[in-house]
Amino acid sequence: MLKNITKLAFCLGLVNGTFVVCSQQKNNNVLNRNEQYNFLSENELHNLMKKHKNLSILNRKQTEHILSLIRDTNADIVSFRKNADRLIRILMEQALCQIEKKKYVKQSPLGLYEANEVKYDDEEICIVSILRSGNAFLNEGLKVICGASIGQILIQRNEETSMPKYYFEKLPEDINQQQIILVDPMLASGGSASMALQLLLNKGVKQENIIFLTLVSCEQGLNKVFQQFPNIKIITAQVDPILLKDINYLAPGIGDFGDRYFGTIKKNTHPIKV
Ligand code: URA
Repeated sequence: MLKNITKLAFCLGLVNGTFVVCSQQKNNNVLNRNEQYNFLSENELHNLMKKHKNLSILNRKQTEHILSLIRDTNADIVSFRKNADRLIRILMEQALCQIEKKKYVKQSPLGLYEANEVKYDDEEICIVSILRSGNAFLNEGLKVICGASIGQILIQRNEETSMPKYYFEKLPEDINQQQIILVDPMLASGGSASMALQLLLNKGVKQENIIFLTLVSCEQGLNKVFQQFPNIKIITAQVDPILLKDINYLAPGIGDFGDRYFGTIKKNTHPIKV
């Protein structure tokens, strides 16, 4: 009985005192390729942003078409890359929207106007990629912020323990002076993101100076990261309803983003190895 009440409370999102009505149970253990998933409603997304003040979810109307093309398991690499890049570009521009602006008066060909520009020079911004998939952000990232420095952190999931394992980092020496845009296309359990964030904090970076960009996330990952790092900002294009627990993939998700973006799977094979 108590177990059933707890289950119901979980489904109604009464955990943590926040009322987020979930349209589906949020943890599935088994992958069933024939299951059709419902996306979170506008209301659920709104409640998530109420719960996490530093969370921004892109407008569904702006992203649903592009995301739908990316999710399609039949998308070839050209279509996948092209559309992933389009969405990454939107996220990068959105990151700039969230950085403080400086105002001053400038000259247009026809007169004076009040300029309202990002307060940092490009060189004061560092795009930190969580390898390997984070590198997919670099093409578009460097078109938007051409002079940004690039930091890289390699963290991979240990297949036996499912725990993230740190391997390598290369970051600018003065990273604690920079505005950080941390990038990883998929936020699943949040283990790798948390490890990367802790590493940045250990280098003296302030949470307030970090914006984390991710294409698709899930509630569990967002909860974990914000619980540990409440003052960073996260911008995500979409929040998926399911985290497939055993394999740590999002559903309906995208599949293995890195394999699809970098072309490291054979054509016509399924993108997830289970
Ligand atoms: N990484 C991926 O590539 N896809 C997921 O769904 C989760 C993590």
